[in-house]
Amino acid sequence: MNIILIGFMGSGKSAVGHQLARELGMDYLDTDEVIERTEKTSISRLFAEKGEPYFRDLETEVVRTLEDYDNFVISTGGGMVLRGENVRLLKEIGPLVLLWADAGVIHERVRKQTHRPLLKVKDPRAEISKILGKRAPVYKKVADHVVNTDKLDVDGCVKEIKEWLRSR
Ligand code: S3P
Repeated sequence: MNIILIGFMGSGKSAVGHQLARELGMDYLDTDEVIERTEKTSISRLFAEKGEPYFRDLETEVVRTLEDYDNFVISTGGGMVLRGENVRLLKEIGPLVLLWADAGVIHERVRKQTHRPLLKVKDPRAEISKILGKRAPVYKKVADHVVNTDKLDVDGCVKEIKEWLRSR
């Protein structure tokens, strides 16, 4: 079994994923990192040079390669679950755990970071609200478990996920 972390940019997927993998003795994989490695460029550059649809196709290509993966915590890009095919394939290899955070919390977390193409706009706070509002129903619909990270640090999120896994 694998554990798939989904959720908006800045929801903590990488930090929580690394620690969860360490504590559970699992391997860690980040789909954005796979894309950056195979394309030999950054996500920002990919968006700028090839456009978002090209990136979305790469996401699906990565998910198609995960079929035989086992014992991985897999962190996905914030838009990964917007494609039904990605959701279907991911659910075949493990439960989808949503790291949820409200727009204000997300903004606080990502405000000093510059590597996210979708947030390179004049008013990132408004953009976060807009995109998160659109995606929230999808995230919540596809998630097998939701962790509200607003008031939790990385330790707290990891603990919550481990308790959920034990209770299943
Ligand atoms: C995206 C989130 C990013 C990355 C890309 C698009 C999105 O990943 O995949 O910039 O559509 O939300 P993180 O969620 O890891 O920032």
